[in-house]
Amino acid sequence: MIRARGLTKTFHRKSETVEAVKGIDVDVREGELVAFLGPNGAGKSTTLRMLTSLLEPTAGTAEVAGYDVTRHPAHVRSQIGFIGQGNGGGFSYRVLDELHNQGRFYGLGSAEYSRRAAELLEALDLGGLEKRTVQSLSGGQRRRLDVALGLMNHPPLLFLDEPTTGLDPHARANLWEHIGAMRERYGMTIVLTTHYLDEADDMAERVVVIDHGEIIADATPSELKRDHSDDLVTLVVAPGSAGGAPSGTDLLPDDEATLRTALASGDGEVRTDGAVAADGARTVRISTAHGDTRLPEAIEALRVAGFAVRSAELRQASLDDVFLNLTGRSLREEAA
Ligand SMILES: Nc1ncnc2c1ncn2[C@@H]1O[C@H](COP(=O)(O)OP(=O)(O)OP(=O)(O)O)[C@@H](O)[C@H]1O
Ligand SMILES: [Mg+2]
Repeated sequence: MIRARGLTKTFHRKSETVEAVKGIDVDVREGELVAFLGPNGAGKSTTLRMLTSLLEPTAGTAEVAGYDVTRHPAHVRSQIGFIGQGNGGGFSYRVLDELHNQGRFYGLGSAEYSRRAAELLEALDLGGLEKRTVQSLSGGQRRRLDVALGLMNHPPLLFLDEPTTGLDPHARANLWEHIGAMRERYGMTIVLTTHYLDEADDMAERVVVIDHGEIIADATPSELKRDHSDDLVTLVVAPGSAGGAPSGTDLLPDDEATLRTALASGDGEVRTDGAVAADGARTVRISTAHGDTRLPEAIEALRVAGFAVRSAELRQASLDDVFLNLTGRSLREEAA
């Protein structure tokens, strides 16, 4: 659906030169849902604007929905929907008129655009709002209307630039549900941008991490987390009592070495901070790619070795850990 090679955009303004996008290669297959994730100014919108033929690349090529964006921009536009980042406020048009106008813009006849508008109003949960002005809608309703507008021409490929920014968590989840439903209903390929890590993690099948105009990672959220960060298992372990030790063992394990031996067979890096509580309890941390299976394994190994596990916690890797490991800084701080 998309094949971009060496896509580059350099802006010149007065004496200033901004290399917004620095030669990115990206492929999107038909039917995929891909999220471009990156901090403010990373080059997400600039990339989308080049892929939608709104901005001419400084260098490189992109074929979108079968057409070259530079040589056949009109053909590209006939195949795509594009919902830009944010939308100026204060529209005094009515919801239904906006949809009909959009249909006319795409050259649809009145019967056809009326039918599509009705279908999209229903599908995007906008029923009853036909006569409301756009400016009177809530942020979430407004964003759903944006999606409806982008779908009036039934595009096989839809671009959404930060569709959920500024929405509350409930409205974000709701919009995602609708995007998913639209995708199933129309079999669309979807490319969107976000700087919400959790949402890219939960919703995107594939995440393209972009920073300073370059793609620094491109994989599924679970692959990214597996390859670029670890889960963290934290256990508070005390010398055995409370029937923890199997019968026949009389050891009273209270030292570091015994603890480490008990955990040596499993994967991951085992760390203890050396501090021992008055009752002999120690905190053990295990960095591992598979925290979900490592946690019960570790508890069992410790129990067999005669320790009592007082508490156990699993913190699974997040995309922010991935970003931190790849760039040395947190995307969360950046966004804040
Ligand atoms: N028309 C322009 N003229 C000059 N510089 C520009 C122009 N458009 C974008 N830039 C610069 O290019 C860089 C990338 O901007 P872009 O809008 O692509 O980032 P973004 O990843 O979409 O960020 P955000 O999350 O804030 O939307 C930024 O440094 C921006 O200031
Ligand atoms: Mg942007």
